[in-house]
Amino acid sequence: MIYAEILAGGKGTRMGNIHMPKQFLTLNGKPIIIHTIEKFLLNDRFDKILVMSPKEWINHTKDIIKKNIGDHDRIVVLEGGSDRNESIMNGVRYIKENHGIFDEDVIITHDSVRPFLTHRIIDENIDAALKYGAVDTVIEAIDTIIQSVDGESISDIPVRNTMYQGQTPQSFNIQKLVGYYEALTDEQKEILTDAAKIFALKGEKVRLVRGEVFNIKVTTPYDLKVANAIITEKINND
Ligand code: CTP
Repeated sequence: MIYAEILAGGKGTRMGNIHMPKQFLTLNGKPIIIHTIEKFLLNDRFDKILVMSPKEWINHTKDIIKKNIGDHDRIVVLEGGSDRNESIMNGVRYIKENHGIFDEDVIITHDSVRPFLTHRIIDENIDAALKYGAVDTVIEAIDTIIQSVDGESISDIPVRNTMYQGQTPQSFNIQKLVGYYEALTDEQKEILTDAAKIFALKGEKVRLVRGEVFNIKVTTPYDLKVANAIITEKINND
């Protein structure tokens, strides 16, 4: 089975004082999370699309899906976890309990607040997850990356053409993901906030899919302005 998992379990604290988590704010009159879900719905290869929401926003999530998309038997709204990886794993636990987990099953995990991903990015994630078992979406680093361990002076300046910026989707063979995640101690779980890093640390090859510069994550009020500009340009070009 091929699962999509849209991660919307966060509170959006870096967005500042907002009345609802950022994934529910609107772009062109439609909640950001709906723009994202619609991209996944257009792909017929997904058997199920799991949407992970904060517990107190589950009803709201169901309501806006019903209002904007209608009833859809491929979409399941579930409770997110205490951090991003726990949200991923709550979805995996649901799969285990309701469908079982089989050798070939893959999950395409995506930030709900990256509404501009493309159908190419989704398809390449599915293909690479089925073939290789672990996938990350990246773009080449635009700025030179400066490493500073103490925040006061430079420790290193890695060669820029080996540096990439991580985006999502991140996609995994589900059996492998469960195996690696469950082998982590609680301490390791706190440090390993990036799911792809869990695979890389175990010596698994994580394949790269090229993202897009416009596949931004809406994190701050500035990003919201950029997202509005992107969507306005898209509407004018359509
Ligand atoms: N996310 C999640 N479950 C969590 C935390 C985050 O599903 N417990 C999701 C967010 O909803 C978001 C994505 O992971 O779509 C990327 O995380 P981030 O941008 O850091 O979102 P928040 O945690 O909501 O933001 P902040 O760190 O500003 O509070």
